[in-house]
Amino acid sequence: MASDEKVKLAPSILAADFSQLAEQVAEAEAAGADRIHVDVMDGHFVPNISLGPPIIHSLRPITKLPLETHLMISDPNRYLEAFADAGSDSMLVHVEGAWHLNRIIHHIKSLGKSAGVVLNPATPATAVQEILPDVDQVLVMTVNPGFGGQSFLASTLSKIAQLREMIDAGGRPIELSVDGGIDCDSATQAVAAGARVLVAGSAIFRAEEGIAAAMAALRKAAVVN
Ligand code: DX5
Ligand code: ZN
Repeated sequence: MASDEKVKLAPSILAADFSQLAEQVAEAEAAGADRIHVDVMDGHFVPNISLGPPIIHSLRPITKLPLETHLMISDPNRYLEAFADAGSDSMLVHVEGAWHLNRIIHHIKSLGKSAGVVLNPATPATAVQEILPDVDQVLVMTVNPGFGGQSFLASTLSKIAQLREMIDAGGRPIELSVDGGIDCDSATQAVAAGARVLVAGSAIFRAEEGIAAAMAALRKAAVVN
């Protein structure tokens, strides 16, 4: 018997058709997306360059959904105001890119935004032990960050389970998200391990069956037991 706990979907616009970004975000919103995930890459922290504050600024008036900003950039602390001003609702920073993680998390909160930490595949769950009481979200990268369309790394499942235990033991509601290579199959595995937010790019925006049908299929695959 499935529990009534719901898994949230965060479509990642990295895989969207940017010539039709407004239409595709509207379609994802109408299909019940819980938030929009925006991947920011600087060509330094990750080997790719993607989006910045102007895209957030353009999206802000066209959707009611929260805009979640995944900062794959060096020295994220320098850019938090710019993203907050552009309209980000939450900011996720990598443990690996943050020399002063506690300072950055509190900086995000001082801007009135939701704060999250992100772990690369090779970063252990214990890297966030001390910061856990201060964050709203933990995002586990299930691929190496930098590109959409990569294959899910099943080796991250034990870390998801470990973080689930750490979060439950802490007794505070912290969202546990996964990002990278999420399709129906990996969604089922990630949710079974304890994830409750699925970030998906290719599986939603590049799906042959269309955005709404792809999201419905992911929802079906991601039921909490
Ligand atoms: C990867 C990004 C992901 C990316 C996921 O570095 O953080 O959010 O958009 O894309 P898919 O779902 O195609 O793996
Ligand atoms: Zn991302």
